[in-house]
Amino acid sequence: MIDDLWEKIEKVIDFLPPMPPVATELAAVLSSDDVDLGTISRIISRDPSMATNVLKIANSAAYGLASKITGIDQAIGMLGTNELASLCMCYGAARGLTPPPRTVTVDLDRFWRHSVATGVIARKIWGKLETGRGEQFYIAGLIHDVGCLVLDRLSHKVYAAILDLTRKENISVLEAERRILGASHDVAGGLLLEKWCLPEIFIECARCHHAPSAASEPYRVAVALVSLANMLARLTLHGFDNDMSGLIISETDAFRLLEKTYPQLAGFDIVKFVWDLEQADREIDEMERLHRSLT
Ligand SMILES: [Fe+2]
Ligand SMILES: [Fe+2]
Repeated sequence: MIDDLWEKIEKVIDFLPPMPPVATELAAVLSSDDVDLGTISRIISRDPSMATNVLKIANSAAYGLASKITGIDQAIGMLGTNELASLCMCYGAARGLTPPPRTVTVDLDRFWRHSVATGVIARKIWGKLETGRGEQFYIAGLIHDVGCLVLDRLSHKVYAAILDLTRKENISVLEAERRILGASHDVAGGLLLEKWCLPEIFIECARCHHAPSAASEPYRVAVALVSLANMLARLTLHGFDNDMSGLIISETDAFRLLEKTYPQLAGFDIVKFVWDLEQADREIDEMERLHRSLT
């Protein structure tokens, strides 16, 4: 155990660079249901480095364009809001959270793959339940585990021991964190996103994704959805830790909470959904490629 643990965690958070204003503003706009591309364009244009990134991605070879994209409006129209959501969060989170290369304890490739997969799956579940794009669920999924990176910064040695314990005893990261550190990434992540002034939905998803019933009422369904996506990401091998043995999705807190709002979930064929998620791999690859080009 570390003395004055939470004080130290708060210090780590205080020392992290703030979320760039452009990312905070974009997250707020993209978390509303009514996304106006003109507003997004104005926000991005105010940050030269973000604007450059957007143009860079829009012009990247994978999009195979004959002529260059030179305007932000054009780039946004082409990329769509999915990619923008990813861009703005990756840009902000990666800037502040990627540890210096020599001090990496967490396998960042695996970490971000799990995060991207959770975001993509969260958006897919939303698509089964409601109409609308569900961009906020993608973002919420993408950043639900950022607290792991905060705890890693607190002490690389301790976090290495935590990850070691997950492998040795086949337990979850959460369980290992609680045993070794006495603190866990969900609470640390919630604190970080609060400091970054992100919309409440993201703070709650980070803070409560392992215990959706603890989320405040207006966000409980969103948290349950991200929590379910987190489990499905791990079940479909986009995990960050090991322990998924004996998990029955329909008996989880997350599934039951969602079922209350969406009774149609009672007939939901989880096995088939998980099977269909294999098709999401291409989408996950694509979003991951985007993420890599920024970090
Ligand atoms: Fe987690
Ligand atoms: Fe997770």
